[in-house]
Amino acid sequence: MLAFLLVAFATADPAPYAGSAVCRTCHAAQYDAQSGTAHARALKPAADGKHDWAFGAPVHATTWVSKLDGDLYVEHRLSYYTLTKALAPTPGHGDKPEPGVLYRIFSPGSEILRCFQCHSTGTVSVTPDHRIQPSEPGVRCEVCHGPGTAHAKAPSKTNIANPGRYNGGEVNQFCGSCHRKPTPSGEATNFHDPWNARHQPLFFAESKCFQKSAGRLSCLTCHPPHGGPVKADMCATCHAKPRHMSATVTAAAGRTCISCHMPAVKPQPELSFSNHWIGIFPRGETLVPRRTR
Ligand code: HEC
Ligand code: HEC
Ligand code: HEC
Ligand code: HEC
Ligand code: HEC
Ligand code: HEC
Ligand code: HEC
Repeated sequence: MLAFLLVAFATADPAPYAGSAVCRTCHAAQYDAQSGTAHARALKPAADGKHDWAFGAPVHATTWVSKLDGDLYVEHRLSYYTLTKALAPTPGHGDKPEPGVLYRIFSPGSEILRCFQCHSTGTVSVTPDHRIQPSEPGVRCEVCHGPGTAHAKAPSKTNIANPGRYNGGEVNQFCGSCHRKPTPSGEATNFHDPWNARHQPLFFAESKCFQKSAGRLSCLTCHPPHGGPVKADMCATCHAKPRHMSATVTAAAGRTCISCHMPAVKPQPELSFSNHWIGIFPRGETLVPRRTR
């Protein structure tokens, strides 16, 4: 996706991105559904008058980012955590002084511009007075469907991208452009670090379900792209009768497949993620499942 945004800077069309409001005129159902997702709300102008931008849906947390002076931005030291309904240090800020971590816009590989790129749609620009300006806040239509101005003018299937046509590996790569891509053989990742469990494509790529499904199982099998509940009951499509031998499993009536095979991982008390390395976990272990075959 980041490579894709850079390409957009170089195209001849000055406004290849139409914005979701334009898509809405013909695709109201998708627009209405998608507007309620964490994606759509991943970035907003802050509503409190004290900060510039609010990052985070806030399904998990909200982190504020503001312009200071010159080309300096600050990621504020305290974030709001939804799980605990309280302020606590932003991840990585525990030992940092107020106001928080400072970033220069114009630095090599500018980290602060990258925050905006993953949390917004279209090109990110910088105004003459050094304000960062995303073309559309939040992860909206054209992140997944590509620049849509030409399609909106002359709708056809051939001038708009559709990730519904990608196979499982391609979806991993695509969603991984923001959620982090699987490494070629997985060895560069520390799977014992709970912070890495938020990189779902990496963990998912290690699971037997993914590896042995010949591209049929992808993020989109469980996550409807325009919102709606996770399809957590789809395990049965491939595992109609799982072979549960141990008495503990048989006795655990009422527990969901997910609670045992995609356990919750808490890198800090305020944040919880689901382990996407679907597997058989030894008691007390939530990160790396038992290695089979
Ligand atoms: C003027 C009406 C109109 C606008 C505006 C419009 N679309 Fe479409 N879109 C259509 C029509 C009509 C089709 C079906 C085309 C066909 O079947 O040949 C379509 C098809 C699609 C498809 C399915 C393509 C496929 O693979 O089958 C996607 C995805 C899509 N539009 C996304 C978008 C997005 C994103 C935007 C905003 C950037 C947008 N559309 C704006 C009319 C529109
Ligand atoms: C442009 C970057 C980007 C791309 C590409 C992207 N996402 Fe996301 N996604 C995000 C961000 C940012 C969030 C965090 C939203 C928040 O909580 O603020 C997120 C959150 C989510 C969530 C969590 C919703 C929740 O309730 O916690 C799911 C599920 C998700 N993405 C799935 C996908 C899938 C599937 C794909 C590929 C089809 C994808 N994403 C592609 C940036 C992206
Ligand atoms: C490579 C893309 C990428 C970059 C760069 C990025 N984010 Fe995110 N961010 C994401 C994704 C994807 C999620 C969703 C994580 C999840 O729910 O699993 C997310 C989630 C969040 C959340 C919700 C809390 C959470 O942990 O889920 C906040 C707040 C946030 N990001 C702020 C920021 C800030 C501030 C920066 C810059 C310092 C930044 N992000 C840089 C992709 C990115
Ligand atoms: C996270 C990625 C993602 C985002 C964001 C997204 N879409 Fe889609 N969209 C998809 C995928 C994947 C499909 C294919 C669904 C399928 O085949 O079941 C799709 C399919 C479509 C289609 C074809 C008809 C259908 O519903 O299957 C239209 C039209 C469409 N999207 C419009 C939009 C519009 C408008 C927005 C913004 C409001 C949007 N999409 C945002 C991923 C996304
Ligand atoms: C698209 C089909 C598909 C779906 C959907 C699917 N799996 Fe799997 N799963 C597989 C395949 C294929 C294997 C490998 C079987 C083998 O090696 O014989 C597997 C293996 C497993 C294993 C054994 C893991 C190991 O390391 O040996 C478990 C546990 C499992 N799946 C649980 C689940 C659960 C729970 C869900 C729902 C959240 C699910 N699967 C969804 C296809 C799927
Ligand atoms: C087998 C089903 C399944 C597949 C495949 C799957 N997910 Fe999930 N995902 C879930 C479940 C279940 C949750 C927990 C939902 C909840 O707690 O409401 C979840 C949660 C998430 C979240 C929220 C943060 C977290 O970790 O709990 C994100 C982001 C996410 N998935 C992204 C992805 C991406 C990206 C892919 C593809 C690499 C993917 N998922 C593939 C079932 C799946
Ligand atoms: C209480 C925890 C627990 C629950 C709930 C649970 N499992 Fe399991 N599962 C296990 C354990 C432990 C094993 C290893 C075999 C054993 O000890 O019975 C296993 C093994 C498996 C296997 C590998 C054996 C095989 O059939 O190939 C699959 C697939 C599987 N489970 C799928 C599921 C599905 C689907 C659900 C939901 C309907 C589910 N499990 C619910 C704990 C659980």
